[in-house]
Amino acid sequence: MPGLDPGISLRRRNLPAAPPFFIFMETPEPKTLKALNKLIAAAEPLVPGADHAVLGEGPAGAAIAFVGEQPGDQEDREGRPFVGPAGRLLNQAMEEAGIDRKSVYVTNAVKHFKFEQRGKKRIHQKPTMGEVKRYRWWLMQELDLVHPRLVVALGGTAAAALVGKAVAVTKARGQASFENRPGYITVHPSYLLRIPDEADKQAAYQEFVADLKKIRALAA
Ligand code: URA
Repeated sequence: MPGLDPGISLRRRNLPAAPPFFIFMETPEPKTLKALNKLIAAAEPLVPGADHAVLGEGPAGAAIAFVGEQPGDQEDREGRPFVGPAGRLLNQAMEEAGIDRKSVYVTNAVKHFKFEQRGKKRIHQKPTMGEVKRYRWWLMQELDLVHPRLVVALGGTAAAALVGKAVAVTKARGQASFENRPGYITVHPSYLLRIPDEADKQAAYQEFVADLKKIRALAA
């Protein structure tokens, strides 16, 4: 998308949460991840909650890009994606599948932690489809710049962001195409953490590791 008004940052324009068309029609396409991240970091959040963004992490040119939903409480505090409980489970599953986390790119569909304050607690709020769509331009720019061989949607929100409409993960699980980008849809690690029965949890975890092994092979 060509920029009509180069050099004007989103923060300086102090734009409210507006549809991407209105925000981005005046934003030049960033040429590097660093430039894109500068834009994201300077922008107003498009969800109620955290006031700063958690940026994607990993090398540009990574073979695999993992996309989650949004940063959680710990990610927001540390300013890094997937460093909380779901991230630790993801790391463990990656290790079992032979994927080196440092070699892959990890990011989120929504760049800010959406939460509701209840007393001292910040309670995670699922982003709406409208909110996910508002962040989509950033995600697509990010994936264009990382240019992975395979994009992995972790859970329904990421899949919806990548496909552009609601997706049932149980039905769509497996190989996918996200606007001509080779992709794969699997569950979100936090779904595994929420399974109450230990045997069911173990079985679901093994299925997740099996997905990651397929992902590794597809991206080889
Ligand atoms: N869940 C996500 O979707 N992303 C994170 O970064 C952490 C937890």
